[in-house]
Amino acid sequence: MKKLIEAAEIKEAVHKLGREIEEWYQGEPLTILGVLTGSVILLSDLVRAVELPLKIGLIQASSYRGTSTTRGELIINESLIPNVEGRHVLLLDDIFDTGHTLQKLIPIIENRKARSVRTAVLLWKAERTEVDFAPDHHCFKIPNEFVVGYGLDYNDEYRHLPYIAALEPDEIDA
Ligand code: IMP
Ligand code: MG
Repeated sequence: MKKLIEAAEIKEAVHKLGREIEEWYQGEPLTILGVLTGSVILLSDLVRAVELPLKIGLIQASSYRGTSTTRGELIINESLIPNVEGRHVLLLDDIFDTGHTLQKLIPIIENRKARSVRTAVLLWKAERTEVDFAPDHHCFKIPNEFVVGYGLDYNDEYRHLPYIAALEPDEIDA
């Protein structure tokens, strides 16, 4: 695999994202809702870089896929979502690829009477977007390559890498 983004660059970008979030919410209480499993590393770094009255929540979304990198049916597990009624919610995911995951999650949170719902991601594969909105906050735009590390996986591997790397075509099962 080839390294795309160094750990130090990620650290700097996550701190910048923290400042952006503080500026947007202006001291208002916020729930950061991490999308499992890919957001866990970002979530743990970001929450320590945001000075706001903060609650952390989780929601699980997985698109079933075998060994390939193509997406399947999206399964959402709502059982972990905390009470968000009247609260500002920031949905946090590792990557905005086609955008379908966050497109499905936003109305679920809105229906729970959140005060506002916005989105933040580490990576945005802008040329792959298939929905009519963009993430409200992102750290890096990346080209259309399959990437791993800092929470992102290939068959549940590589999430622990402190950097972002792109898999070579011969490392991906057809
Ligand atoms: P979307 O619904 O197409 O925006 O895809 C979002 C989800 O697909 C992310 O939460 C990731 O789990 C997964 N995904 C998309 N692209 C990649 C990638 O390059 N590497 C690892 N996971 C990815
Ligand atoms: Mg994911």
